[in-house]
Amino acid sequence: MRLEGKTAIITGGANGIGLAAGRRFAEEGARVILADFDEQAGREAEEQLKADGLDVGFIRVNVADRESVDRMVEETLNATGRIDVLVNNAGITRDATLMKMTAEQWQQVLDVNLTGVFNCTQAVAAHMTERGSGKIINTSSVSGVYGNFGQTNYAATKAAVVGMTKTWAKELGRKGINVNAVAPGFTMTAMVAKMPEKVIEQMKGGISLRRLGQPEDIANAYLFLASDESAYVHGHVLQVDGGIMM
Ligand code: NAI
Repeated sequence: MRLEGKTAIITGGANGIGLAAGRRFAEEGARVILADFDEQAGREAEEQLKADGLDVGFIRVNVADRESVDRMVEETLNATGRIDVLVNNAGITRDATLMKMTAEQWQQVLDVNLTGVFNCTQAVAAHMTERGSGKIINTSSVSGVYGNFGQTNYAATKAAVVGMTKTWAKELGRKGINVNAVAPGFTMTAMVAKMPEKVIEQMKGGISLRRLGQPEDIANAYLFLASDESAYVHGHVLQVDGGIMM
């Protein structure tokens, strides 16, 4: 039980990687809050994991809206009295090449992937600072490290997540808060399933392990960074991408 007695908020926890992490964390003894915009999927996920005997709750949140984030933190603290782990996993894509990208596509991705991470971290770090401990895990992407065709907005936010991770590691380390990031490679969730089969096949050719990641591959990296085993890992961006060659 690597997270016994801990409370973890996982944003974007209703689907994909966040949901896999919710299950994994709860299996390791955590009380998990799946925090997501998608109420229907979130309620279903909560029911499914509870039916498996896991300690999981759902809170509806829009990470781009600071008031909504503050309510999420307050509700979590009312229910559990503590927040030990925050996984900033919620993210969206609105792909288009540079010349075709609309101002709306640009802004929507910034609001969720960049401002959302800032909002959640600022709100939760206040509580963690008071307690003198905590783990913050951000979600970057190989697109933020290498760039990716059609993802000006997304790559910009995911590169920014690396900058924020390292900055917060410097600011919050002395307060007992561990800050790291995971940069997933192409992982089989709804985000990738929208891509044409041909593009997915091409992507596999650029991965040393010749397969896409599974949500559990990323969830296991989150788990390591959430557990005491990573106590001296700080300001690190862990690429979990099957050995991608971009
Ligand atoms: P997904 O689309 O399956 O799940 C994302 C979740 O975020 C959804 O449940 C959605 O409702 C939630 N969400 C979206 N906007 C929100 C908002 N404003 N407030 C609260 N929740 C919101 O995506 P997936 O693949 O599980 O991605 C998880 C994270 O991993 C994202 O940050 C993504 O950018 C990142 N990532 C994913 C990769 C992939 O290949 N699937 C590759 C690299 C990074």
